[in-house]
Amino acid sequence: MKIGIIGSGNIGGTIGTIWANQGHEICFGTRDRHSDKIQTLLSNISGKAKADTLENAAKFGDVILIAIHWYVLPEILPTISHLLADKIVIDATNRMFPPPPESADTAAEEIARLCPGSKVVKAFNSLGANNLKNLDFNGQKPSTFIAGDDPEAKKVVTELAEQIGFDVVDVGVLADVHYIESLAKLWVHLAKKGGRNTAFKLLKK
Ligand SMILES: NC(=O)c1ccc[n+]([C@@H]2O[C@H](COP(=O)([O-])OP(=O)(O)OC[C@H]3O[C@@H](n4cnc5c(N)ncnc54)[C@H](OP(=O)(O)O)[C@@H]3O)[C@@H](O)[C@H]2O)c1
Repeated sequence: MKIGIIGSGNIGGTIGTIWANQGHEICFGTRDRHSDKIQTLLSNISGKAKADTLENAAKFGDVILIAIHWYVLPEILPTISHLLADKIVIDATNRMFPPPPESADTAAEEIARLCPGSKVVKAFNSLGANNLKNLDFNGQKPSTFIAGDDPEAKKVVTELAEQIGFDVVDVGVLADVHYIESLAKLWVHLAKKGGRNTAFKLLKK
């Protein structure tokens, strides 16, 4: 699958590396594709990966992962939103402050509002990026909680998340995303007290 990644830091760089090494084609969207940081990232990937502008990464992917800090998104999204119509857009962002007055209640709903026609699915936001390379928690897989309005898009995201090693929990539609976004705040709170090697798991019996 061709995946464009907007943001190549802790989350985007790590998930992109995992997917590329599993056989997906990755294009990291970055402000400076010649930077040492991006070149180091690419040199540690054995699969197909390249770096390009944010626009070209958005054009490249059939699936787009948004992995950038929330406060830069209102500036960036309007420049690429026309390239995201009909595409699956995975939102891994966390907005750790109350929504601005004109914004939707959650980050994912705001991305959907700013990118009409895109199929937004929330995922990967409720666990520290430091855990992604090894999701074995004493024999258990952590959950990633997903939500979105397009069932086919959620199927694709489920497969991509399972390839990383997650147990996927489908929370519901975009209007349910607030449940997932609040989990990230709980994760950060717990990580400050007990360390970052921690994850949520939905148990069933
Ligand atoms: N870190 C975690 O454990 C974690 C966990 C779950 C969710 N998240 C969420 O994931 C998102 C990314 O977090 P992160 O920790 O991966 O951040 P990060 O390591 O700081 O990476 C963010 C990336 O955004 C790009 N960027 C920064 N300012 C930009 C601008 N003005 N225009 C365009 N690109 C810009 C940078 O790429 P270039 O320098 O290459 O342009 C950078 O690689 C955040 O919303 C965060 O809340 C993080």
